[in-house]
Amino acid sequence: MADLSGFWNVYVMGLIAFGLLFCLVVLVTNLKASGDGKLQGHVWDETLQEYNNPLPQWWMYLFWFTVIFAVGYLAIFPGFGTFNQQRGAFREYTDEIAKANAKYEPLFQKYQETDLLTLASDANANATGKRLFGTYCAQCHGSLGEGGAPNAGFPNLTDNDWLYGGDPATIKASIAAGRRGSMTPFGQVLNSEQIEDVADYVRSLSNLTPASDRTDKGQAVFAAQCAVCHGPDGRGAASMGASFAALGAPNLTDTVWLYGSDRETIIKGITQGRNAGPGSLTNEMPAWQDFLGEGKVHVLAAYVYSLSKK
Ligand code: HEC
Ligand code: HEC
Repeated sequence: MADLSGFWNVYVMGLIAFGLLFCLVVLVTNLKASGDGKLQGHVWDETLQEYNNPLPQWWMYLFWFTVIFAVGYLAIFPGFGTFNQQRGAFREYTDEIAKANAKYEPLFQKYQETDLLTLASDANANATGKRLFGTYCAQCHGSLGEGGAPNAGFPNLTDNDWLYGGDPATIKASIAAGRRGSMTPFGQVLNSEQIEDVADYVRSLSNLTPASDRTDKGQAVFAAQCAVCHGPDGRGAASMGASFAALGAPNLTDTVWLYGSDRETIIKGITQGRNAGPGSLTNEMPAWQDFLGEGKVHVLAAYVYSLSKK
């Protein structure tokens, strides 16, 4: 009932109050046992007739009991809208959280004041970082940060291949604010021949396909359309300097692939683009600063940095 507020709170309370009042009115107006013990006069199913008898007293007492019980219950336990919500399970839950925060706050405060490089070699901090990673990051990046399912688009965090940069501050920025690398969809810009040309050229950069007429033509397309983000030689945005790194365009000349190196996957990616509006493919690193708080993000950044610095 934590988020029951405003209109819905009043609505729920109104329904409950109305229900109870209605029962009371029915009971009070029937205080005097009505019924004269006579036959009602109508006949169903050929022989079935009905006496007008009062309800048995014990039956009436049960009704009274349920109404009084309901009022008593709602006076003591949560149930009547937000009234009493400070008791019971909701209160226990918020108390637990407050207690845990109070207990660990000073610890994370201390970590937060330690610079990331020092923290990355602190065994206790890394043990905490590892636990946090297992809870919040492993489902995408794999339990050891090795990148999870192959070609699913979740980067390996244990190598020295970075989309945005592997220095502690950049890693922290990636975690705190999230990342959403965006690539133009080329389906409307290039024809299918050109897309195949440039896909083969990209594959030739990591020796997956031999040089050919196609890759020559692809090279020209690459220079015109792709070099802005992936760099003139395809070595990725970060290779062009820090101010380009935020584009997140990967190095296309190595053996590390987010989505896979087969021709079909590459053609699909070029045609549909990434995170670029309707029809494009999507993939995103969530932002964690608001959810986890700066202290935990700091510890996680140090831990992730330590993974690649073995
Ligand atoms: C829902 C899946 C998902 C979760 C959960 C997730 N990530 Fe990511 N992460 C991604 C994706 C996708 C990218 C790549 C984003 C891009 O290409 O623009 C990424 C990128 C990163 C990067 C940048 C890597 C680089 O090469 O520059 C870091 C660092 C990172 N994540 C750390 C974390 C940490 C730490 C957590 C847990 C707090 C976490 N991630 C949780 C999906 C996820
Ligand atoms: C606006 C910048 C931008 C342009 C222009 C661009 N890309 Fe990309 N490209 C990216 C980003 C960012 C990603 C990573 C997307 C992600 O993280 O989900 C990417 C991913 C890729 C991938 C997937 C790499 C992998 O590891 O799986 C390929 C292949 C690729 N681009 C090829 C191209 C080609 C070919 C062109 C030109 C026709 C091109 N890109 C133009 C930004 C760009």
